[in-house]
Amino acid sequence: MLILGIESSCDETGAAIVKDGRFLLSNVVASQIEIHNRYGGVVPEVASRQQLGTIIPVIETAMDQAGCGWESIDAIAATYGPGLAGSLLVGLTVGKTLSLANNLPFLGVNHLEAHIYANWLHISGHTSMPDADDAAWEYQEGDPIFPLICLVISGAHSELVLVRGHGQYELLGQTRDDAAGEAFDKVARILGLGYPGGPAIQKAAQQVEEDFEQHQKSPALARNTYRLPRAWLRGTYDFSFSGLKTAVLHLAEGAAGDQQGASGNKEGKQISLYTRMGAQSAQKGNVTVPLLASSFQEAVVDVLAVKTRLAAQEYHVKQVLLAGGVAANASLRVRLEQELRPLNIRLNYPPIEFCTDNAAMIGSAAFFHLLRGEQHGLDLDVQPGLSLPFSKKM
Ligand code: KG4
Ligand code: ZN
Repeated sequence: MLILGIESSCDETGAAIVKDGRFLLSNVVASQIEIHNRYGGVVPEVASRQQLGTIIPVIETAMDQAGCGWESIDAIAATYGPGLAGSLLVGLTVGKTLSLANNLPFLGVNHLEAHIYANWLHISGHTSMPDADDAAWEYQEGDPIFPLICLVISGAHSELVLVRGHGQYELLGQTRDDAAGEAFDKVARILGLGYPGGPAIQKAAQQVEEDFEQHQKSPALARNTYRLPRAWLRGTYDFSFSGLKTAVLHLAEGAAGDQQGASGNKEGKQISLYTRMGAQSAQKGNVTVPLLASSFQEAVVDVLAVKTRLAAQEYHVKQVLLAGGVAANASLRVRLEQELRPLNIRLNYPPIEFCTDNAAMIGSAAFFHLLRGEQHGLDLDVQPGLSLPFSKKM
């Protein structure tokens, strides 16, 4: 089954042609990162206007790259939530219109569920594309094995989920305040490292940790330069990152204040406390920002990795999946692998470009719904606050 997947929930416009929920014929993503970088975060009105301009060329390119005509497409799927209403509306409307014009079944896809299904994509080195016969659609070699624990960590969500089968989600824990990605973005802003924060913090941390290694010092020393708080919320699988963010802010403000005092720079008062430390430190070649980035990343990774391992042990799963933009984080991947390997639990995560927003994951998630006989009418509307369809909440 060939599905055209469309993704437009935030600041990426994506289209992909996916076969049997696993194999990629094409995958095109147009990113607006450079535009929003100027503002230090996504500006919703700008994002939706950009979506309008790019959606048709992105879909045409995906069709061209796959060598597909409409006659070979079996269904169309587009994200309908969660996300920014204006951005969602663009992809959903185009998807529904194309399904009407080409007389094809249409399915709206939950963006968070799609992040999970990025783990079903066979991305590199797979040339054979067997047709899924109807009996075998649920499981093919290389697929994740149920039951499993999935840590869904994106710009707006941090959820620990027990997945018992296709579409069977139980919520074990979630963030009580900021999402993990949101914390990375806000802290990067405090440190003057730019948007999106996750990759910027990872890069700054990596550089200073490599520096330490070159000077025969353990990278663990860099990661523990600042003793930042961890909200363990024991007895729950919930997360909280806002105290950590505030601790970084206080440290940054203190350093900015010290520097201002030392230089006697009165004009400094006009400069935002959020950016001053990063800018000044960078100019002076001060290592404080990278060390703070490294200590912050370590605090986030610590909590995410330990809680995920505890959930995997309690529910006796053999497999853990990472999903969402923060799953691209190299330190998290390494640390979680270290937690799980001694327990003989397998860790899976998508390649980096399939952790962040893309349409291939939309095509994958859609396949498993369509084969269960589901589809949506053209009256389906955007749902900006949509959550995963949990059967049970803890
Ligand atoms: O899934 P995603 O692309 O969009 C949403 O659905 O929200 O996630 C975006 C988030 C941003 O907060 C970004 O800073 C974070 O993922 N992110 C990372 C990394 N790459 C992206 N966080 C930590 N480390 C990374 N390497
Ligand atoms: Zn996303």
